[in-house]
Amino acid sequence: MYFSSLFTVALSILSFAAALPLHRLNHSPALFWHVSDFNTGCSPGGCTYDFNITGIASKNTPGFKTHCSGTSVQDDLVFCDDKHVKAKVAPRLYPAWTVQVQHAWLQGEAEFYAGGTANVTSTMKNFTIPVTEVYGVA
Ligand SMILES: *[C@@H]1O[C@H](CO)[C@@H](O)[C@H](O)[C@H]1NC(C)=O
Ligand SMILES: *[C@@H]1O[C@H](CO)[C@@H](O)[C@H](O)[C@H]1NC(C)=O
Ligand SMILES: *[C@@H]1O[C@H](CO)[C@@H](O)[C@H](O)[C@H]1NC(C)=O
Repeated sequence: MYFSSLFTVALSILSFAAALPLHRLNHSPALFWHVSDFNTGCSPGGCTYDFNITGIASKNTPGFKTHCSGTSVQDDLVFCDDKHVKAKVAPRLYPAWTVQVQHAWLQGEAEFYAGGTANVTSTMKNFTIPVTEVYGVA
């Protein structure tokens, strides 16, 4: 799948950042993604999560709006409904969770990648994720 390989390329390139023309981009003013309807549920077999997420378009980043769901037993980020977006929600000491989101897109020939993480609790339905990394792979 095309966007799956885009993520693979972006992520594998990140591990060789020193050797490749990978550019960390400025994104001011500070960029935030908005999460709503954050839900978690746990059973002895593990936890599930789902949420909606919106990214407002900015100068260097396209907007998106999608729904993400998955389980806490997944080891890696999994695709949201919009395959440009991936998420992972990991349980920490109850009721804390770490929510990690990545967004990948193409602009002309260049591939871009943005990521952010937030620490939240299960009672938080809406929260923001600060985008702390934006990379372009030329
Ligand atoms: C959460 O976000 C949704 C969608 O943006 C909004 O409709 C809802 O009013 C918000 N709820 C709270 C408690 O802020
Ligand atoms: C979350 O997304 C679903 C499907 O796109 C939508 O039906 C629902 O109203 C959204 N919820 C909020 C709080 O935005
Ligand atoms: C979330 O919490 C963990 C453990 O306390 C910490 O290492 C991490 O830096 C926190 N992340 C954010 C984005 O606050």
